[in-house]
Amino acid sequence: MTVERTLSIIKPDATRRNLTGKINAKFEDAGLKIVAQRRIQLSKAQAEAFYAVHSHRPFFNDLVSFMISGPVVAQVLEGENAVLKNREIMGATDPKKADAGTIRAEFAESIEANSVHGSDAPEAAAQEISFFFAAIDIVA
Ligand code: CMP
Repeated sequence: MTVERTLSIIKPDATRRNLTGKINAKFEDAGLKIVAQRRIQLSKAQAEAFYAVHSHRPFFNDLVSFMISGPVVAQVLEGENAVLKNREIMGATDPKKADAGTIRAEFAESIEANSVHGSDAPEAAAQEISFFFAAIDIVA
């Protein structure tokens, strides 16, 4: 059994609609444990730094504008194969392609306002968790 941690962000479209609890229930019902969580307003510089890997993509500026349009909830999810499991719970990036029952199928508004972000690999998860949390903030 591989217990992992992954970084999740509940995005501004979801916090605006007060969906934090419903989204958290999806994680918990699937067996992931929320071991750290904070609601924050990202600055432009912070959003640009978090999404630096996408800085050359055509959607980068719109993505940054969207991510600073309201509060986000950053969280660490822990559980068996947490990185992959969270990606299954979220569903495809484009909600039109997301499987029924996934967060994005149920809640996302568009490919940009897609309600949640999740790390795509264990190495990315470690880096993204350290972007938002110190070790002392994570309580298993
Ligand atoms: P996320 O998992 O947070 O990682 C990058 C984000 O860019 C992605 O989710 C989408 O919300 C956003 N995005 C906007 N447009 C696109 C696009 N055309 N293709 C992929 N991601 C996009």
